[in-house]
Amino acid sequence: MPKAETPLDFHPDPALAEPLYQQLGNALRNAIRQGRLRVGERLPSERDYAAQLGLSRTTVTAAYQELKDQGLLRGYVGRGVIVMASDTDQAQAGAVPWPQLGARLTRHAPPAGPRRASGDIPLSDGWLSPELVPRAALAASAARAASAVANVGSAAPPQGLPALRAALATSLTEQGTRVAPDELLITGGAQQGLNVLARALLGPGDVALVESPCWHGAFRAFRAAGADVVGVPMDHEGMDPDALEDALVRVRPKLLYLIPTLQCPTGRVMGLERRRRVLQLCERFRTPIVESHVYGDLVFGASPPSLKKLDPAGLVIQQGSASKSISPALRLGWLAAPREALSLLVAAKASLDLSTPALTQAVLADFLASGGHQRHLARLRGELEGRRDLLVRALSRHCPSLRFALPAGGPYLWAAVPAGLSGQEVEAAAALEGVSVRGGEAFLPEQGASGHIRLCYASPDAGQLAEAADRLGRALRRLRSQPPASGDAGAALAWV
Ligand SMILES: Cc1ncc(COP(=O)(O)O)c(C=O)c1O
Repeated sequence: MPKAETPLDFHPDPALAEPLYQQLGNALRNAIRQGRLRVGERLPSERDYAAQLGLSRTTVTAAYQELKDQGLLRGYVGRGVIVMASDTDQAQAGAVPWPQLGARLTRHAPPAGPRRASGDIPLSDGWLSPELVPRAALAASAARAASAVANVGSAAPPQGLPALRAALATSLTEQGTRVAPDELLITGGAQQGLNVLARALLGPGDVALVESPCWHGAFRAFRAAGADVVGVPMDHEGMDPDALEDALVRVRPKLLYLIPTLQCPTGRVMGLERRRRVLQLCERFRTPIVESHVYGDLVFGASPPSLKKLDPAGLVIQQGSASKSISPALRLGWLAAPREALSLLVAAKASLDLSTPALTQAVLADFLASGGHQRHLARLRGELEGRRDLLVRALSRHCPSLRFALPAGGPYLWAAVPAGLSGQEVEAAAALEGVSVRGGEAFLPEQGASGHIRLCYASPDAGQLAEAADRLGRALRRLRSQPPASGDAGAALAWV
């Protein structure tokens, strides 16, 4: 059995081209790097070490000197030679390696997208423009909420303000999904809900299934918990159930995340039959479903029942948000979960931030209870539909090479770019023309090119939509008049 290597049983090899003092220096450096020699530890004297290794004293002196010059060792009269630092400390002297420490978060971050200038028209964001927010009603709710001592004087319970949970339960139940106040957890936006779910249900080595493409905040949250994320392909109705079945068999996921109503980024709506099939499959495999219903209030016509409503087996945790239908400034979301799952979720939530601010919760509770919510939603849907039609008309005029299905609601239009172009290329070219769009790459759970862009008609002023399409048209024409950068013959053919 080979003898365990310690810093002191280095075996010099005179046959190597490397001088002996360097061999010894490298062995000591490795021992320091690997922690076999620790900071503060004392090395043998030069004379003793030379005798021990059968080397000349000058060889050991030269090796020690090299490491002293690098700041790894220091000699003290009467105490010998002491290890002063590890060589990683030395390499990065003074600098904490932040990017390496945060690699789990940054490794899978979506492409940053081009920098926006102040005059750019924002079609890339998913936020409502301020004119779509019920500002007067929220201001009145804020004034009433702030006048109650409890809302400004104490923290809310981790599960959420009882008044907000009661108002949400009434509102969800009126819309057809029966939920009780004690089945709700209030979160700091739906995005925090995803992190709560990840913290509660996922760990390193677990797998989460998502639609491909899907909301990137979901796969980022799941990966930040150490889980692997597997994308399931979609068709015009959302997640493909055969591909889902295959994935359930193959990877045995810990959860399935999907957005059946107005999927982000594609805007697709899953039909009733497919909803039933997805539920049956997940029931068979005992796989929890996280149903994102954040766009559920924004369907222009009739919409199929939510998965939560159809759920016979207590599989579904539904997520909602005030950001997409009331105001993104509130940063409020919620999870409606089976009671057995709730204590787990509340514990995860409390470990993240103890609780969501009481005051903003009280504002939303007041807004929901004061009766204007349904009127606001009806108006918002009408506004969004009008904007969708404006954008569609402008795209047909200025961007005839884009292909898309008419969104049945929500704020997004998902468009296929001309063959041979990628979403990211169009995103970059559009930025140069003063309009921001989001390349589809941002929404792919696996790395790769996308042939799509996502346009949000809710975030700019309605009056800017025609101009935005004009600018995007200029970007597309400019791209098509340039030869492809790759020189790939297949891509070149696609340009003509
Ligand atoms: C599907 C989906 N979930 C969650 C979010 C984030 O929502 P919130 O603002 O409530 O955190 C978004 C934002 O675009 C989204 O599209």
